[in-house]
Amino acid sequence: MDIKLIPLQTHGDERGSLVALESGNNIPFEIKRVYYLFNTGKGVKRGFHAHKLLKQVAIAVRGSCRFILDDGKERVNLLLDNPAQGLVIDSYVWREMVDFSEDCVLMVLADELYDESDYIRNYDDFLELIPGRA
Ligand code: TYD
Repeated sequence: MDIKLIPLQTHGDERGSLVALESGNNIPFEIKRVYYLFNTGKGVKRGFHAHKLLKQVAIAVRGSCRFILDDGKERVNLLLDNPAQGLVIDSYVWREMVDFSEDCVLMVLADELYDESDYIRNYDDFLELIPGRA
């Protein structure tokens, strides 16, 4: 599957580094919600769902975690460990997050407010619901 990683320009000088996130510029949608995961204990696994409409960009602003993305055809496993890189997670992509580093802060930008009815939490349902599925 096609993995979209957005390079985020870092403004750095002797005072440190700064990344700016802008709707419609480096983030390919209007940002309606931001949430972040932290204090994720050792061995924790999160996610295990897909969305019908929601689009998201995930950024490991500190530490690292591993993403498993699955579009129903292919499963891709990638380490997110760079605060200057955004991982695009489109709708109808099953995601699992594992191997959180102890210091991990995973920030997620979303194009809609939280809506439980947009979640697909069962993998077999996800496979059935993928649009255009043969
Ligand atoms: P959950 O979907 O289990 O997180 P993950 O995808 O990382 O496994 O969400 C954990 C809890 O937080 C759950 O009770 C729903 C709530 N929540 C919100 O209230 N707003 C949000 O934007 C998100 C993502 C979750």
